[in-house]
Amino acid sequence: MRNPREELSSYTAEMSDPVSPEIEALLKEDRSFAPSEEFCRNAAVNDPDIYAKAAKDPERFWENFAKELEWIQPWSTVLEWNPPNAKWFIGGKLNISANCLDRHVRTWRRNKAAFIWEGEPGDRRTLTYFDLYRQVCQFANVLKSLGVKKGDRVALYMPLVPELAIAMLACARVGAVHSVVFGGFSAESLSDRINDATATVLVTADGGYRRGAIVPLKQVADEALEKTPSIKHVVVVKRGFGDIPVHIKEGRDHWYHRLMQDAPYDCPAEVMDAEDMLYILYTSGTTGKPKGIVHTTGGYLVGCYATTKWVFDLKEDDVYWCTADIGWVTGHSYVVYGPLANGATVVMYEGAPDWPRKDRLWEIVERHGVTVFYTAPTAIRAFMKWGTEWPAKHDLSSIRLMGSVGEPINPEAWIWYHLHIGGGRCPIVDTWWQTETGAIMITPLPGITRTKPGSATHAFPGISTEILTDKGDAVAVGGGLLAVTKPWPSMLRGIYGDPDRYVTQYWSRWGREIYFTGDGAKKDDEGYYWLLGRVDDVLNVAGHRIGTMEVESALVDHPKVAEAAVVGRTHEIKGQALAAFVTVKEGITPSEALADELKRHVAQKIGAIARPDDIIFSADLPKTRSGKIMRRLLRDIAEGKALGDTTTLADPAVVAKLKEQYESSEG
Ligand code: PRX
Repeated sequence: MRNPREELSSYTAEMSDPVSPEIEALLKEDRSFAPSEEFCRNAAVNDPDIYAKAAKDPERFWENFAKELEWIQPWSTVLEWNPPNAKWFIGGKLNISANCLDRHVRTWRRNKAAFIWEGEPGDRRTLTYFDLYRQVCQFANVLKSLGVKKGDRVALYMPLVPELAIAMLACARVGAVHSVVFGGFSAESLSDRINDATATVLVTADGGYRRGAIVPLKQVADEALEKTPSIKHVVVVKRGFGDIPVHIKEGRDHWYHRLMQDAPYDCPAEVMDAEDMLYILYTSGTTGKPKGIVHTTGGYLVGCYATTKWVFDLKEDDVYWCTADIGWVTGHSYVVYGPLANGATVVMYEGAPDWPRKDRLWEIVERHGVTVFYTAPTAIRAFMKWGTEWPAKHDLSSIRLMGSVGEPINPEAWIWYHLHIGGGRCPIVDTWWQTETGAIMITPLPGITRTKPGSATHAFPGISTEILTDKGDAVAVGGGLLAVTKPWPSMLRGIYGDPDRYVTQYWSRWGREIYFTGDGAKKDDEGYYWLLGRVDDVLNVAGHRIGTMEVESALVDHPKVAEAAVVGRTHEIKGQALAAFVTVKEGITPSEALADELKRHVAQKIGAIARPDDIIFSADLPKTRSGKIMRRLLRDIAEGKALGDTTTLADPAVVAKLKEQYESSEG
């Protein structure tokens, strides 16, 4: 069967007419699941009128959440909207680390577990709110002793260890801007990000553990540091058990534990304006260079706090586990800021889900009595493939609510998750959002919403979304482009160092007041949203966002490559896989070995997540008469589909040859 989402996403990408009846039929999902009466009764929010109330006065709605937090000075105005620039909680002063820590430490939560952490090799640590508070204060003092001041940028390149969260909160405490770089990125990706943000300090680790192997982060960082003149100091967390070789450059590099030894526990939180920058997080876009998405303090905190509270229905005794790496936005908002602002107990696990066995996650759920579990469809599809015997070995009855994020979830995966992880009793919240939105935007509310497998359902109260045609007409029922039509507190405030791109990328499609998400979506006749994937040149591989242009740039950087075009194709587990069409330079003969070399080259340039699955050599790439590469055709070839109209091609024979070649390479 064809994949309807893929069908529609390539369809909307070409920006033509409404969705065909065929696609409509394929997308029809009749099953729906209402939360149990008991769940509704006890839910943080269970009044369906909340949507109407919030829509009537969104500013008041958000303000009420803001009032539950701690402000050094209250705001005078909730929102100032000069499209496309928004300011929230104007005049408000606060510190986000104080909201995540000090606020709880003053109550009985002082001794509540903040993080329950497991390392892949099996080591475990629990940090109470008081532990976390003290270590954050200490590290904040360390940062100050290294000369870090309010507004300075600090890069973090770490495995998934508590010190990563400690470093983020310590930055926030002294008013420094953190820029977390996922530990799977290459030296070049790291140095690019450090240089774009002109970070002065890098916090890293000797390494981390992944599938029993060591990821030598400091070694990779050393390579990056050869090209980062702004970095004055490097702090190295000792994660390994002495088995990870580390080079310490005198004067520049410092061991974390040494600096912490003498650091005082007392560190007052810097007074931050609601609109002071909190962090930069780089994400892939439609150009070769990742964009530094900027988030500020007040609105971001309010967005994360509110959505964590309502979407995950947090209770005081919940044990909450979001499996995301902190290197992505999901980890920022739903491992660190959202749950800590709510005073929750958060589980963190360093390693791979199938190490040492395929029940590692279920073992952790059972051991710690996880009650709220949040993961990605790509993981769920892998669990499905591994078989039900792995979760069946464990008592998962503590789970009461489950979430999904990062990519569209196919109904089969949804149902499997519901039955085999949730025991058929737990609501599922399929949450749609982006690095740019900062917090969840479209989601069920578990005590209110009747869910449909594969649908993210409705916009969170106070959030205004629409499906628009390319011309900007609202689509009441049917497919189109997903837009956000009103500003929201946790929205990005810009692209670091590139104000023009902020406007052109997000606020130019339908004028300056409407945010373009880059996603295609459909609204069904009950008003439910169905996300259909990106309509631009951004791919979503195993829940990771990858720009086709980035991979193309990495490929043409190889001395043997003349030209490259990268497209996504459907992948059973990863959602999408990367297919790269490559033409080689004169005198070079394509071969298996060269294909492997190119895959390695991309992994080395960007990181393993960007390694293409397929390399297809071609004498030529299909181009329009004006010289534009016809990606739609390449997508069709990679999907093994019948080719559509090729009349605009300069040389139709190129495509026929390519298709034949691709099919024969697949065997
Ligand atoms: O295409 C959408 C997809 O992930 C993109 C955002 O990626 P990123 O900024 O890395 O953030 C991922 C985690 C929030 C979106 O443009 N996406 C995210 N969540 C969903 C989704 N697609 C469908 N359903 C979702 N629940």
